[in-house]
Amino acid sequence: MSGDAGNGDVAGGDAAGGDVGRSAPGGGYALGGFADRERELSRLELQARRLVGMHEGAYRRAGLLDAPFVLDVGAGSGAPARFLRDAGVETLCVDVDRSILRHAPRPALVARADRLPLPARSVPAVHTRLMLQHVPDPAAVLAELHRVTAPGGALLAVDTDHASFVSEPAPRRCEAARQTWIARTLERGADPFVGRRLRALALGAGWSEVKVEAATLTSDDIGPEAFAELLLLPYLHATTTDPEALAAGRAEAGEWAAAPGSFAMATLLLLSARRRPEGSAS
Ligand SMILES: C[S@@+](CC[C@H](N)C(=O)[O-])C[C@H]1O[C@@H](n2cnc3c(N)ncnc32)[C@H](O)[C@@H]1O
Repeated sequence: MSGDAGNGDVAGGDAAGGDVGRSAPGGGYALGGFADRERELSRLELQARRLVGMHEGAYRRAGLLDAPFVLDVGAGSGAPARFLRDAGVETLCVDVDRSILRHAPRPALVARADRLPLPARSVPAVHTRLMLQHVPDPAAVLAELHRVTAPGGALLAVDTDHASFVSEPAPRRCEAARQTWIARTLERGADPFVGRRLRALALGAGWSEVKVEAATLTSDDIGPEAFAELLLLPYLHATTTDPEALAAGRAEAGEWAAAPGSFAMATLLLLSARRRPEGSAS
């Protein structure tokens, strides 16, 4: 079951009818909407490789590293799944976007997170990372993840709250792009502040033993250049494909990173939960 799904034999139906993931600038997250797909792919990889590794303790506490198998929903290019597989955990990657899923480890399935083509109570553990902020109905997704999870099974849902992003000074173009991204996300009915709602959403979807950990990452933790690349510039890349605007934004972020007093931080929320064991009181 190893190797990358790079030869197009990703299983699943046609996800193009979904109302999500069609284009990045202005729409939901989709690889095809980025001016430079290779750059976005390598950003996702780098970001996940650095951050998922830093959060290994949360993955362990959630029970994901002890699970025989994890369903990764909104798996993207598969970096978190590769982390799980390196830890000896089998995975099934699911994503609505076939073009990005081709880079994920097999097996992989094209499907919407709120309509998984899997039987009820069929998987021992589920994982979703940085997807709930992109969907119009995160409650429905968490309910669907609950449906497919076996009694006693584990959930780890990782996302952010874009209000937690702070940068001093704020590079003008990047900050404008961040505000644009937030406004567009709200316009299409998704929630850029979903992080703060994870606990309530999970409880509403029937999950028990719900616990939310916060992990704040600063520019001092990973260095300002890496922070700018992984967490600041993505706002720009997600809101414009104009080469001149991208070049100006990159130059500005470079100046920001080079200034000795610059500081920025962002917080990830890691929600762990369990499906109640069979026969336990609800
Ligand atoms: C920012 S990427 C995160 C990818 C990966 N989880 C990671 O941490 O590197 C968000 C992913 O969610 C997927 N996605 C968005 N809406 C979805 C939906 N309704 N169902 C399934 N996948 C979805 C996108 O196609 C994209 O691959």
